[in-house]
Amino acid sequence: MKSRCFVFFLFLLPLLSFSEYFPPSNPRLEKAYVALQAWKHAITSDPKNITANWCGPHVCNYTGVYCAPAPDNPHELTVAGVDINRGDLEGTLPEELGLLSDLSLFHLNSNRFRGGLPSSFKCLKLLFELDVSNNQLEGGFPTVVLELPALKYLDIRFNQFCGDVPPCVFDLKLDALFINNNQFTFSIPDNIGNSTVSVLVLANNQIPGCFPKSIANMRETLRELIILNAGLRACIPPEIGRLTKLRVLDVSYNHLVGPLPATIGDMKELEQLDVAHNKLSGEIPCVVCDLPKLKNFTYSYNFFCEEPPQCLKIRSHDDRKNCLPFRPDQRPPEQCMAFLSKPRYCDSNGCIAKPPPPPSSPPPSPPPPVHYHY
Ligand SMILES: *[C@@H]1O[C@H](CO)[C@@H](O)[C@H](O)[C@H]1NC(C)=O
Ligand SMILES: *[C@@H]1O[C@H](CO)[C@@H](O)[C@H](O)[C@H]1NC(C)=O
Ligand SMILES: *[C@@H]1O[C@H](CO)[C@@H](O)[C@H](O)[C@H]1NC(C)=O
Ligand SMILES: *[C@@H]1O[C@H](CO)[C@@H](O)[C@H](O)[C@H]1NC(C)=O
Repeated sequence: MKSRCFVFFLFLLPLLSFSEYFPPSNPRLEKAYVALQAWKHAITSDPKNITANWCGPHVCNYTGVYCAPAPDNPHELTVAGVDINRGDLEGTLPEELGLLSDLSLFHLNSNRFRGGLPSSFKCLKLLFELDVSNNQLEGGFPTVVLELPALKYLDIRFNQFCGDVPPCVFDLKLDALFINNNQFTFSIPDNIGNSTVSVLVLANNQIPGCFPKSIANMRETLRELIILNAGLRACIPPEIGRLTKLRVLDVSYNHLVGPLPATIGDMKELEQLDVAHNKLSGEIPCVVCDLPKLKNFTYSYNFFCEEPPQCLKIRSHDDRKNCLPFRPDQRPPEQCMAFLSKPRYCDSNGCIAKPPPPPSSPPPSPPPPVHYHY
């Protein structure tokens, strides 16, 4: 991998020496100049004139480009950050960006970049925060992020990435992972429990599989888990209660069935819980509504049939469209009866079990006894 980066730079060296502006600043800034000029050429619209001053060798003065002493040589300046959030730039990300090899922050949210992340990003061995959210990036999961040893914060939400999410993403030592609002189609893998993130947002993708119990292995770090509108077809595993540091849990707008596990009562830090728009049933466990920090509990649009009174004391609660007796705005009784007559089960992995097959042919009826004497 190292040697490939090296070959890539060698290829660019002749370009550097022919450059017309070249007071010898230092070799890192010279490479950065090549990278940023290539990028400027790949930008097709810049309504805010952000790149208007991207001229000449003084890259540290370019809007959105931040320099700092190089980590391995405090006497040399290098480009340590690029921050063009809300820049409204349109274009692509050229391979030359891999020349910014001391980059630790790359923030590009809310622009109009298309295409994918360049494979040369693998040369960014110090990259710590990568935020390319809210662009028009496309193609498969940008696997180059798997090769960034310093990466802690990965935000690719609100793009048009599609296909599978490689399970090894969850083996990265990240602090936060946002992949929501793309077109990924995947199942949550068992190794999700290996993830070290404190914030995990998978929402608004297609994740039609089950909800692995191993999620409980994230108990030391996980603070926020958001998997809303992802097509999950599962029960909520009771193991989820082991995430005792969780503050926000949102699994609304899925196809979750079964009960709300009473183990959620162990999540003493929980402040917001949203399970609305699923097919959950049974009673709301008292221990959930007794959670000391719970401020907002939304469980509307399910089939719950019992609710302890303390639930109504939570500062913000929403119990509409369930099957709760004596509560306003519930489902019509026929709907509740129809649902409850077809109970759904989960198998031991927490996945929705197929209903038992109907008997293929009616069993032969035994000859009717003539008399019963009790
Ligand atoms: C950008 O530059 C063009 C041409 O110099 C000018 O017409 C336009 O008003 C500038 N836009 C902004 C937002 O500064
Ligand atoms: C940045 O621009 C100013 C003038 O605007 C100049 O004096 C200074 O030398 C430049 N700095 C670098 C690092 O190029
Ligand atoms: C990651 O998760 C898998 C599946 O749960 C497990 O078998 C493996 O041991 C884990 N690896 C690490 C490094 O924790
Ligand atoms: C409570 O949560 C719901 C859904 O998660 C949200 O729509 C609502 O605005 C929240 N209410 C308050 C008061 O924060």
